[in-house]
Amino acid sequence: MKIIEVKNLTKIYNGKKKTIAVNNISFEVEKGEIIGLLGPNGAGKTTTIKCIATLIIPDSGDIFIKGKNAFKHPSFALKNISAVLEGNRNIYWRLSVRNNLEFFAGLQGLNPKKIKNKIDELIDYFNLREKEKAQARFLSRGMQQKLAVACAFVRDTEILLLDEPTLGLDVETTHELKELIKKKAKEEGKTLILSSHNMKLVEDICERVIIINKGKVVAIDSIRNLKEFFGYKDFYFEIEGKIKEEIKREFIEKFELVKFKEDEYVTEIEIELKSAEYIYDVIDMMRKNSFKLKRIEERTPDFEEIYLKIVKNG
Ligand SMILES: Nc1ncnc2c1ncn2[C@@H]1O[C@H](COP(=O)(O)OP(=O)(O)OP(=O)(O)O)[C@@H](O)[C@H]1O
Ligand SMILES: [Mg+2]
Repeated sequence: MKIIEVKNLTKIYNGKKKTIAVNNISFEVEKGEIIGLLGPNGAGKTTTIKCIATLIIPDSGDIFIKGKNAFKHPSFALKNISAVLEGNRNIYWRLSVRNNLEFFAGLQGLNPKKIKNKIDELIDYFNLREKEKAQARFLSRGMQQKLAVACAFVRDTEILLLDEPTLGLDVETTHELKELIKKKAKEEGKTLILSSHNMKLVEDICERVIIINKGKVVAIDSIRNLKEFFGYKDFYFEIEGKIKEEIKREFIEKFELVKFKEDEYVTEIEIELKSAEYIYDVIDMMRKNSFKLKRIEERTPDFEEIYLKIVKNG
């Protein structure tokens, strides 16, 4: 079932200068999907997320939540969506950890007394027990962010929108929060849209990604397909001694994407091949020129490199 449908969404900010933040974007999300929303700074990710959460009204286009037009039925949309937006305005600073959770449960019409167990579970799950009675403003940045995510989960909506949930967190807390979100979203079958600049996190949590740039969609696909489609094989060779300039030129003519690096003792050659089969040609040329091969390594690009390629080439 398509739980979120974004159709020809356009949002223009009319400041001193007119900014087309989101330019005719369309995509659909299936129930239970975990989707990454990626793109450079200013691409329009936060604007898109705010539109889905009905926090801002687009200039044109529609959003359907479970088949219902979100702007015609905003309270229905809000009942189904929890959002953690970028920054630290997601929780109430003067309320304690527990009171924040109770407040957000209350927003969903849940009686905090009746879901005391659930709140306790969340406090333990997000490792906030020690600070349960502390006001949110006295928590560390990482704990505040964990609380914000816990508050999104306490409402138990089908859809979660997380805008850069690990921004500014240290390596350890990023890892912790990533694991917590991943496990809980999967267990509870949540539909999750997550924006992040952390490609390792995206690769680990998301099955599919939507990449936007300058307000337009540049790719929507599974990470696996993008890797296959934009991936290339990089081969790295280590050769004993130096290589004559004319032979280097021969390599460059034949294989185009060749990089040489040399010192007194070794020459490193890096070649990007469209397919692994070309390796035979490389080896043939090396044999013909009596190269002393010390090492071969295959290097496949990681998702971050592929992401950069997609964004740069549009
Ligand atoms: N309230 C606003 N008023 C005017 N322009 C805005 C406003 N909010 C965003 N913009 C502009 O809209 C464009 C998209 O911004 P948005 O915040 O959606 O990008 P983003 O993809 O979330 O970027 P980041 O990765 O930096 O968070 C940018 O050019 C931004 O300057
Ligand atoms: Mg943003």
